[in-house]
Amino acid sequence: MSHKTIFVKPGGGYQNVVVGSSEAHAPGSDEITVRLHANSLNYHDFAVVSGMWGPSEQRIPMADGAGEVIAVGSAVSEFKVGDAVVSTFFPEWIDGTPLVEGFVSVPGDGIDGYAREQVTAKTSAFTLAPNGYSHAEAATLTTAGLTAWRALMSDDSLKPGDTVLVQGTGGVSIFALQFAKMAGATVIATSSSDEKLERLKALGADHVINYRKDTNWGETARALTAGRGVDHIIEVGGPSTLEQSMIAVRVAGHISVIGILTGVSGAVNFVPALVKQIRLQGVLVGSRTQQQAMVRAINASGMRPVIDRHFALTDIVEAFKYQETNQHFGKIVLDI
Ligand SMILES: NC(=O)c1ccc[n+]([C@@H]2O[C@H](COP(=O)([O-])OP(=O)(O)OC[C@H]3O[C@@H](n4cnc5c(N)ncnc54)[C@H](OP(=O)(O)O)[C@@H]3O)[C@@H](O)[C@H]2O)c1
Repeated sequence: MSHKTIFVKPGGGYQNVVVGSSEAHAPGSDEITVRLHANSLNYHDFAVVSGMWGPSEQRIPMADGAGEVIAVGSAVSEFKVGDAVVSTFFPEWIDGTPLVEGFVSVPGDGIDGYAREQVTAKTSAFTLAPNGYSHAEAATLTTAGLTAWRALMSDDSLKPGDTVLVQGTGGVSIFALQFAKMAGATVIATSSSDEKLERLKALGADHVINYRKDTNWGETARALTAGRGVDHIIEVGGPSTLEQSMIAVRVAGHISVIGILTGVSGAVNFVPALVKQIRLQGVLVGSRTQQQAMVRAINASGMRPVIDRHFALTDIVEAFKYQETNQHFGKIVLDI
């Protein structure tokens, strides 16, 4: 039986996105078959689909997929038919120190992803979804959720009373705000929009800064900590925001180097990194074990992701064009 599937032709670009069909084979002994119901969009998926980092061969896009198990292989004990599951960003990175460099093993980039109705994959390509989550909610976790979780809870060990700064209102930053509040931290959140700043406050942000109006937001954030500095910064801007982040962070504080929203290169004064003994940690999503820890924390806390808007799978190009406008607050999802 064939299933509706999105393909990106070599090189990528919106004109190279086509709707076709694919088949899912019967599961081998250590595989499961999943009826996918949702994807969520990330900047990385945008890079693949838009052609910024287009694929070298035809590719099924989208790293984040969630759905229901409809068949299991003979040796599978972790999942049963009917389980709600969510995909893993690195199906081969199970636990411990990162083993991966780049995206060769990542669904939707180096291998086929989840913009399709059905897939058969190894059990390590999925974990259980949080209890009571819709498939759309679960699909927000693979990339943005896990990146925020790993940065705060695995690379660092956030504790009540710590201060966290999150930049902008995209998927990673909103999750980081929510996980930081879950841990009892104080959150300073930035946005280019006063209207979005109000929504950040409603989500629990203790202090907000408009980074367009206050270009010295690093000093402002530092002042909000009575001069001590921020313990942990979720750095999604990249070259144009790192300098302010290094002003905001405390001595020996932690900056998670996550995003490239302001570009891939630029001049940065590195002296503060030395004199303040800052821990600059590059992040590439996380391991399967970290994802399972995040799901346990969500089950315990009842935290729900923020979904901005739903599109149909076949409207994938319209969804990415909407993401490009930066109007969104939180996650954009595709319903399959
Ligand atoms: N390394 C990893 O493992 C990893 C994982 C996931 C994502 N990422 C990267 O992290 C970045 C964010 O990803 P995302 O999925 O959260 O993106 P997103 O949802 O598309 O985030 C877009 C938002 O970022 C904010 N933004 C843009 N320029 C900014 C700036 N100069 N300063 C502060 N905020 C700015 C804007 O918020 P306002 O409208 O509120 O201003 C914008 O709406 C991307 O570069 C992505 O590639 C990396």
